Amino acid sequence: MKFVIPGDRRIEAANAITTRAMARRLPQLIRRSLALGWQVDRAAVIALLGFQLFSGVLEAFGLMATTGVIKPLIASQHISSDQLRSAVPSLVVLSGAIGLRALLGIASTALSARLAPRIAREAELKLLDAATKAELAAYDNPGYNDRWDAADRGVEVSRDLLTQAQYILAASASLIASACVLTAVHPILLPLLVLAALPKGLASVRAARISYIASLATSKDRRLLGMLRWYMVDKQTADQVRSGTMASFLLGKYRTAGARIDATTDQATWRSARISLVGGAAGGLAHAVVWVALALLVSAGQISVAALGTAFLALGRVSAGLDGIVGYGAQLFRTGMYLDDWADFIDEAGGHRIDRGPGTPAAPTLVRAENITFQYPSADRPALDDVSLEVRRGEVVALVGENGSGKTTLSKILSALYLPDRGAVSWDGTDIRQLDAHATWARVAVVPQSYANWPLSARENITLGQATGEGDAAVLAAAHAAGADEVIEGLRSGLNTLLAKEWWGGQELSGGQWQRIALARAFHRPAGLLVLDEPTAALDPRAEHRIFTGLRRLAVDRAVVLVTHRLTNVAIADRIVVLNKGRVIQHGTFAELLADHDGLFRELWDLQNERTGQVPTPTSPGDDVAPNQHVLF
Ligand SMILES: Nc1ncnc2c1ncn2[C@@H]1O[C@H](COP(=O)(O)OP(=O)(O)O)[C@@H](O)[C@H]1O
Ligand SMILES: [Mg+2]
Repeated sequence: MKFVIPGDRRIEAANAITTRAMARRLPQLIRRSLALGWQVDRAAVIALLGFQLFSGVLEAFGLMATTGVIKPLIASQHISSDQLRSAVPSLVVLSGAIGLRALLGIASTALSARLAPRIAREAELKLLDAATKAELAAYDNPGYNDRWDAADRGVEVSRDLLTQAQYILAASASLIASACVLTAVHPILLPLLVLAALPKGLASVRAARISYIASLATSKDRRLLGMLRWYMVDKQTADQVRSGTMASFLLGKYRTAGARIDATTDQATWRSARISLVGGAAGGLAHAVVWVALALLVSAGQISVAALGTAFLALGRVSAGLDGIVGYGAQLFRTGMYLDDWADFIDEAGGHRIDRGPGTPAAPTLVRAENITFQYPSADRPALDDVSLEVRRGEVVALVGENGSGKTTLSKILSALYLPDRGAVSWDGTDIRQLDAHATWARVAVVPQSYANWPLSARENITLGQATGEGDAAVLAAAHAAGADEVIEGLRSGLNTLLAKEWWGGQELSGGQWQRIALARAFHRPAGLLVLDEPTAALDPRAEHRIFTGLRRLAVDRAVVLVTHRLTNVAIADRIVVLNKGRVIQHGTFAELLADHDGLFRELWDLQNERTGQVPTPTSPGDDVAPNQHVLF
């Protein structure tokens, strides 16, 4: 079985992991888990460490006391009451130590239970924060998704981190205490025992590595399962799963992907089991050697029979301690590999950390794209090829073109969501690469082609949690401009209504009503650049009319980029740019483009109007056109 997937550097790296590497990593991992705990709850971490130490000391005392209990009991055939009495103090120490250790164990478990979920939440918050710091382009990069999955797994396992570290510390404390006692009995015993624990240790590390690699190898399928799960049960697709009778088709895909994961996991489990079997057998043999050595030592009179009793117990403890360190160490090591993925993701935002300049732009008066070329990582040709364009404040520039011609991509580049591969986009003369990304986006208002229906109140759906100084007055004004005022009037609790029916008190909107909210959202934003990508696709004719007749008013203090297929609507634009396969093939005013009878614009216009039987006379830009008379789709 080969897990190595060519080109996956993480799997190759994991294959190179050795036991020595693990031994070196463990202290570092324990430190990291304590540091994470430290950030969350210092007192709990200190208490946990204190309990562990105390428990180790108690264990040593308990073992020493064993000799004191055994000695008088095996001194002669008949045990006198004096002998019994002399054993009492040791017995008290022994039972006291056992009782106290049990209490400490319970307290430690409770503390871990308190810390673990908090650590996981902290890890998740850090990861979510890092994800918002990645360039949007990261999402088009398959490598990013893999890194996200692995980092997400890191969050999942982070709750085990402290427990594993704690078990290792407990096992170490117990091991050190019993090792001291064992060395006191006879110095040869300890090295022998360490040797005996080695085979099992090596096997555990290999098994941990195999399971980590298998989990990397199945990550794509696990992502697929997650997606299928989402598509099958989410409200947004629930109607289509039913109307398309897709349930068994999707379940089938889920089963197939699940079976692939199981096959890989089974192979890994089988391989681990074989390795553990070899390790276990070698360990068993090694332990037998230790017992033989012990028997020889007793027969040679090197150790007393009472000490043999202590040694017997200490040996059990030492080997349990070693097993614990090795077993939990291997688990911690595996957790550590995921945590590395988590930490790497946070450091580099999945390899796509936003790395632009520090400039903070004002609302732009001129947005200019110069010879920009942009290609999606998975595409075999550029989505935009040598495109130049200018939009000024007070202007409406329309982007027109067939599906896939690059309109959405261009609007995303103008609004600094993507950076061009070649060429530059500048805002008032400054390249957007020099500008702080978040500060730039604060100056942009976008109605994307598919917008989010946030499960928030109507007010928050419009303000996006960023109310202006004018408060609700601004919200209502934006709603009015977008025709969302009627929507809000129909809500049970006005702006306070939660727009999510799946929650109590929530209310659901229709597609067109949501689009009005999305428009209000953009109009409310104090932005210099307004980008509308098919902003009226879901609107009824009256609502659409309202938007387009109001758009010129909105453009007074904004630069507006409008993408639409309904060519009557672009009559309000000052200039129209026609895209075809990522290139600008025509530009001009509405009248100019209509007059060009051989141009694509005119062809699309004729197609759109053919079926109405009436070809309207061109209107000049700015005229109050009735845009919906000729809407065909
Ligand atoms: N995320 C993406 N990854 C890869 N290719 C994409 C992605 N988004 C769009 N494309 C491709 O880029 C081209 C332009 O797409 P887009 O700008 O969305 O076109 P339009 O908005 O004009 O319909 C199309 O060929 C499309 O297939
Ligand atoms: Mg588009």
